[in-house]
Amino acid sequence: MNAPFQARAGLRDPFTAFVCDDATADMLRPVAVEHGWSPEKVNKGGLRNAVQSLSVSASPTILFVDLSESADPLNDINALAEVCEPGTVVIASGQVNDVRLYRDLVASGIHDYLLKPFTVDQLRDTFAHAQSILSGPRGGEAQADKPHVMAAVIGTRGGVGASTIATSLAWLLGEKAHRSTALLDLDVHFGTGALALDLEPGRGLTDAIENPSRIDGLFIERAMIRANERLSVLSAEAPLHQPLITDGTAFFQLQEEMKNAFESTVLDLPRHMLIQYPHMVHDAHVAVVVSELTLAATRDTIRILAWLKSNAPQTKIIVIANRVPSGGALEISKKDFEQSIERPVDISFPDDRKVAAQAAKLGKPMAEIATGKMAAPYTQLSNMVLNHASEEGASADPKAPSGKSLVDNLKSMLAKPKDKAA
Ligand SMILES: Nc1ncnc2c1ncn2[C@@H]1O[C@H](COP(=O)(O)OP(=O)(O)OP(=O)(O)O)[C@@H](O)[C@H]1O
Ligand SMILES: [Mg+2]
Repeated sequence: MNAPFQARAGLRDPFTAFVCDDATADMLRPVAVEHGWSPEKVNKGGLRNAVQSLSVSASPTILFVDLSESADPLNDINALAEVCEPGTVVIASGQVNDVRLYRDLVASGIHDYLLKPFTVDQLRDTFAHAQSILSGPRGGEAQADKPHVMAAVIGTRGGVGASTIATSLAWLLGEKAHRSTALLDLDVHFGTGALALDLEPGRGLTDAIENPSRIDGLFIERAMIRANERLSVLSAEAPLHQPLITDGTAFFQLQEEMKNAFESTVLDLPRHMLIQYPHMVHDAHVAVVVSELTLAATRDTIRILAWLKSNAPQTKIIVIANRVPSGGALEISKKDFEQSIERPVDISFPDDRKVAAQAAKLGKPMAEIATGKMAAPYTQLSNMVLNHASEEGASADPKAPSGKSLVDNLKSMLAKPKDKAA
């Protein structure tokens, strides 16, 4: 009965929702956007529509389904199981406040049941938990099936905060997404990748540039400086009398070895290095373009986006407006900026000098000490990077998540006499 699903592996959407009312749809859409998911994936029609749609299309990775109009939720969920592919994390919501129903739903593989009315924060928590299940170690079998994720962070102007964001992103991928992560800081003379984490950069990167033939797995293991259990850094403070002389082989080799040794790589890629060594972005799943709302940055965002479009058309792009002042002291409004670059800003980070100063003093990434308004965009960033990478790189791994998830359980239940419900 579920044979037709095999051909669809790899075409999964990261998220789809089927809701019964406008209020739920209105609450879901912005939260979907925060996660880098399309708000258009929030459909009306509840469970009935979910079953109909999924019988003719691939199942998403995370499925939100509203059971409000369902007379027999448990039974209907079983109908969903028949059309839903294994590996989907199903989050249900409904108005029935009955602990037995909740337990039956969870026992049948539903990830969570949100009782209506629920709050935006409850919704965010549920999605965060669902994502941690998808990206975190899954009972013993984990690790091996995490496809490598590579993100290149590029500042459109000097000092826009690209390195701050690169260091934070690397830290988040390690700490929050539980991925072993490498931060490769390609600002060879003035890099701050090590400094920002209160580390000595060592000679690893300069050695690699001088002698690229030495770069192999063992070299990586020795040369990289460990910031914590899941984050290692390769950065340099090359002497200023020593110009950078390399054809880029070393960088390419380092990138290759990091792909083998880590589950994610974050490149801090100064824009002049982008021009000099364009191949550095070819393998990146995501380019994080960090800008600020100024005239000059607008001009250079336009140029860098155009460059990426023609030089790395396969790379997904995240545009960040950083250091956005809270008052009206903007050189150019966000709306005008977006109009000029002909695309929306994906994430805005407020200008928060207090947090920036504290991070510098403590030698910690800004994401680690950010709270509230400053923390949310960081979460959004790491979610977007992972989602973009899995959309295209899921590519690399058609097996996708295969944990002991939901619908698998539902299906095994269906194999048994199912009428224990009622
Ligand atoms: N959102 C923010 N609010 C306030 N200050 C910030 C913010 N983001 C970064 N900064 C500060 O801006 C300064 C420059 O940051 P950073 O070194 O990351 O920029 P960059 O784009 O990498 O610069 P460079 O062009 O030298 O590589 C740092 O002092 C950092 O603490
Ligand atoms: Mg920098």
